[in-house]
Amino acid sequence: MEATMVSDTTKHYPVLLKELFSIITPQHGGTFIDCTFGQGGCTKKILSNDQTKVIALDRDIESKKEADKILKNFPERFLFKNKKFSSLKNFKLKDENIKAVIFDLGYSYTQIKDPNKGLSFNSFGELNMKMGLNSFSAKDVVNKLDILELEKIFKIFGEEKEAKRIALSINHLRKTKEVNTQDLVKLIEKTKRIKNYKTHSATKVFQALRIFVNNEISELINGLIGATKVLKKDGVLAVITFHSLEDKIVKYFLKHLSEKKSVSRYEPKIDQPETLFVMKEKKPKKPSLKEIKENPPSRSAKLRYAIKKHDFYDFKTDIFEKFRYLLEIESYGNKL
Ligand SMILES: C[S@@+](CC[C@H](N)C(=O)[O-])C[C@H]1O[C@@H](n2cnc3c(N)ncnc32)[C@H](O)[C@@H]1O
Repeated sequence: MEATMVSDTTKHYPVLLKELFSIITPQHGGTFIDCTFGQGGCTKKILSNDQTKVIALDRDIESKKEADKILKNFPERFLFKNKKFSSLKNFKLKDENIKAVIFDLGYSYTQIKDPNKGLSFNSFGELNMKMGLNSFSAKDVVNKLDILELEKIFKIFGEEKEAKRIALSINHLRKTKEVNTQDLVKLIEKTKRIKNYKTHSATKVFQALRIFVNNEISELINGLIGATKVLKKDGVLAVITFHSLEDKIVKYFLKHLSEKKSVSRYEPKIDQPETLFVMKEKKPKKPSLKEIKENPPSRSAKLRYAIKKHDFYDFKTDIFEKFRYLLEIESYGNKL
C-alpha cells in the first residue's frame, strides 16, 4: 500500500507520474484539484506550468508545512485545505472550470516513516494509524471491538485467511493487558499457521486496520462523488489506487457511469444523461517494469481515469448499495 515511496531515500516519489500527466495535460493551463497533496509532488509539477492553478487537500496537518512553502512561491495560483476529500461535494466551485481532479491514494513516505503514526509494523508503542482528522485509533479498534467484528475487519478489509484465529488471540491477550503495536505483531506471528515468505505475517492485518481507522471506503466513495460533481464537461477524474478494494470501487464507479443501462419501462424516468463519463481506456494503467525495479512498492499501483461528458451536477449512483457490505463493516467504528 505504501507504494509511492523509494525505500533508500527520504523523499516521496509519486507513482505513475508520467502516465497521470499525459492524461491531465497541465501544459495547456487550467485549474486542478489535488485531493491527496501529501508532500506536494503532483501539485508542484502541475504548478511548474504557467496558467495553472491548484486547489489541494490533505487530511494530514503535517502536509501544511510543504503547502506553506508552495504558497510563498505561488500565492495567486495555490490554495491548500487541511480537509478530507469526502468534503469535496460541499465546496463552492460551481463557477470554476476544473480541468481535472486527481487522487493518489495510499500513504506518503513521510507518513509511513513517522513513528507517532504507527502505520508500519516496525513501529513501537501504542497502536495508532490515524492519518489525520480521525475520530478513533487502531488502539481503540484492537482493544474494544467484539471478536466477530475484528474477524470481519481482518477478513474483508485485509483478505486475511486466518482472521478468526487472530481475533481470538487478540481477545485472549487484551484480557491481561492493552495490546500495543509490537504485541500485535508478535501475536500474529505466533498465531498464523500459514507462512508466506514473501510478505510479513502482519501485512494484511495492518492493511485492514489502516483502512478501517481512516474510513477509507466511505472516504473514497464520497470523494469520487464530490469530484464528479465539481467537474464540468471535458473535466478528467483520475485515481491511482494501491489495493484491490480501492480499485474495485473506482472501477465500478467509473464504469457504471460510463455505460448505458437498460432501464425498465416501469422505472421512474431519471432526469440524468444516459452516461456521465467516457472511459477512453477500459484497462488500468500500471507502472512499467523500469518503475517497479526502481521503486518496488509501486507494483500494486493502478491508474484509472474517465472524462466527464456533460455539465451535469446532480446525478444518481447505486455505489452505496453496491458496496454496502463494506460500509457496514466500517460502521462498527461508530461506537468507538
Ligand atoms: C500517497 S500520498 C500522496 C502523495 C502526493 N501525490 C505527492 O506527490 O506528494 C497520499 C496522501 O493522501 C492523503 N489522504 C489519504 N486519504 C485522504 C482523505 N480521505 N482526504 C484527504 N487526504 C487524504 C494522505 O494523508 C497522504 O498525504
